[in-house]
Amino acid sequence: MKHTEIVHALAKEASLHEITIKGWVRSFRSNRFIAVNDGSTIKNLQCVVDFENFDEETLKKVTTGAAIEVTGTLVESQGQGQSVEVQTSKITILGEADPEEVKLTILSPKRHSLEKLREQAHLRVRTNTFGAVMRMRSKLSFAVHKYFQENGFYYMHTPIITGSDAEGAGEMFKVSALDPKNPPLDDDGNVNYKEDFFAKETNLTVSGQLEAETYAMGLGKVYTFGPTFRAENSNTSRHLAEFWMIEPEVAFNDLNDNMDLAEDFIKYVLKYVLDNCQDDLEFLENRVLQEDKAKPQAERQEMTLRDKLSFVVDNNFKRVSYTEAIDILKNSKPNKKKKFKYIIEEWGADLQSEHERFLVEKHFKCPVILFDYPATIKAFYMRLNEDEKTVRAMDVLFPGIGEIVGGSQREERYDVLKQKMQAMDISEEELSWYLDLRKFGTCTHSGFGLGFERLVLFATGMGNIRDVIPYPRTPGNAEF
Ligand code: 4AD
Ligand code: MG
Repeated sequence: MKHTEIVHALAKEASLHEITIKGWVRSFRSNRFIAVNDGSTIKNLQCVVDFENFDEETLKKVTTGAAIEVTGTLVESQGQGQSVEVQTSKITILGEADPEEVKLTILSPKRHSLEKLREQAHLRVRTNTFGAVMRMRSKLSFAVHKYFQENGFYYMHTPIITGSDAEGAGEMFKVSALDPKNPPLDDDGNVNYKEDFFAKETNLTVSGQLEAETYAMGLGKVYTFGPTFRAENSNTSRHLAEFWMIEPEVAFNDLNDNMDLAEDFIKYVLKYVLDNCQDDLEFLENRVLQEDKAKPQAERQEMTLRDKLSFVVDNNFKRVSYTEAIDILKNSKPNKKKKFKYIIEEWGADLQSEHERFLVEKHFKCPVILFDYPATIKAFYMRLNEDEKTVRAMDVLFPGIGEIVGGSQREERYDVLKQKMQAMDISEEELSWYLDLRKFGTCTHSGFGLGFERLVLFATGMGNIRDVIPYPRTPGNAEF
C-alpha cells in the first residue's frame, strides 16, 4: 500500500480514514508512544499503541533506529506539540536495530557533540540537526537553480578533470602526474595511455570559471554549480578540500553589474529558505540559542538566525574599495588589546579573515563588498584598472563567515592578459584556448564564485563547514 509521508500526514485534518506511514523510530515511550521520523520534515509523528492489542515480540523490536511501517487512524492528538497522531492498528517491522549496538552509536538518544557525530557521518543524517541542515542544503540548491533559470542563465557543466589551474595558485589534486614533454611510450613508440590516460598532467578542477567564460562568450549568461577541489592545507572551520561552487559568468557585465548580480542572487536564495524552510529554521535557531546560553555574553549572537537572514535580505550590502578598507583598518582598534593579530603595515597587503570580519561585524555591521584590490594579491585573469595597480576584483564578506564570494571583471584585452600571464609565470601554452577568447570578438565580461557550503553555513547558523556537507573532505580526512 502506498504510504503517506509524515510531512503530509501532519498537515492533514484528523479523520477516520486509515493511513500508513513508514519511517525510523526515534523513541518508544512507556510502551505506548512511538515517535517516528521519515526525513520529510523535522517533526516526528506520534503513533499511539494499546499494547494489549499487539504481540510482545513485535513491540520488542520497536527500538530506536528501527525502520517500521505503521497503519492506523489519524486522530486529534491529546498531547502537546502536535495536532494529530496515529491511533495504531498495525505495526510491521521493516528493519531491526539491535539496542545494544545502537547504544554504541550516535543513534543512542543522548546529546552528542558535533565532533562525535562527524565520526559516524553515515548515521548523522538521522539526527534532528543534520536532517534540518541537509534539507536546507537541498532547498538552497534548488533556489540557486531557480534564480538562474528564471533570469535567463544556462546551466553549464564544466569539466572536473582539467589540464589547467584556473586560480594559478598551485593548489591542485593531481589526477595523473607526468612530464608532458616526456610521456611513457609503449614498444611501438606510441604514448602509453594505460600508464597515463591523458598523456599530460591533469588535476581536479579548482574552479570552472575559465571554461564558463568560454561559454558565456556564446550563450551570454551561464552558471556552473559543481564540485571543486583545493589541495590547500587549511584546517579551519571555513575550508574544505572538496566543496561545491556556484559560478555565474556574464558577457557584457562590468564589475558594478557583477556586484549587483551577487547581491541580488544571495538575497534571493536566503529569502527562498526563509519562506520555504520554516520548521527547520525554527529548530536550527533554537539550537543556536541553546548553544549561546553556555557562552559568555560577549560571544553570543546579537540576532536570532531568522533575523540575521532577514537583515541580509532587507538591507543593502556596503560597497567599499580595498583602499578605503585599508584606511579604516589602519585607524581601528578591533578589541581590548586594540590590535589585530596580523597588523597591516602598508597598502598592498592581503586581508586576513580577522580584518574581513572586523569590517563586517564591528565596523559596517552588514555584508560588505570589497572591490578594486591590488593586482599583486589577486589572480591573473582580473581586469587591470587604469591606475595599473589595482584590478576589478570583488569579494563579498559576510558576518560570521568572512569571504563568501570571490569574483571579478575579467581581463578582456589580449595583450594585457598575455603580459600578465608572463609576469605571473602562467603557461601560455596550457591556456592558449583561454587566450583565444580575446582574439575572436572579445568583450567586457564578469563573474564570481560563491562557496556553496559557506552559504549553507550562514543559512543554518552552524559553526563548522564540516557539518554542512554530507561527507567532508579535509586534510587527513576522507574516511567515508
Ligand atoms: O575566491 P575563489 O578562490 O574564486 C574563484 O575560484 C574564482 N574562480 C571564482 C569566479 O570568479 N568564478 O573562490 C570562490 C569562493 C570563495 O569566496 C569561497 O566562498 C569558496 O569559493 N571557497 C571555499 N569554500 C570552502 N572551502 C575552500 N577551501 C574554499 N575555497 C574557496
Ligand atoms: Mg577568494
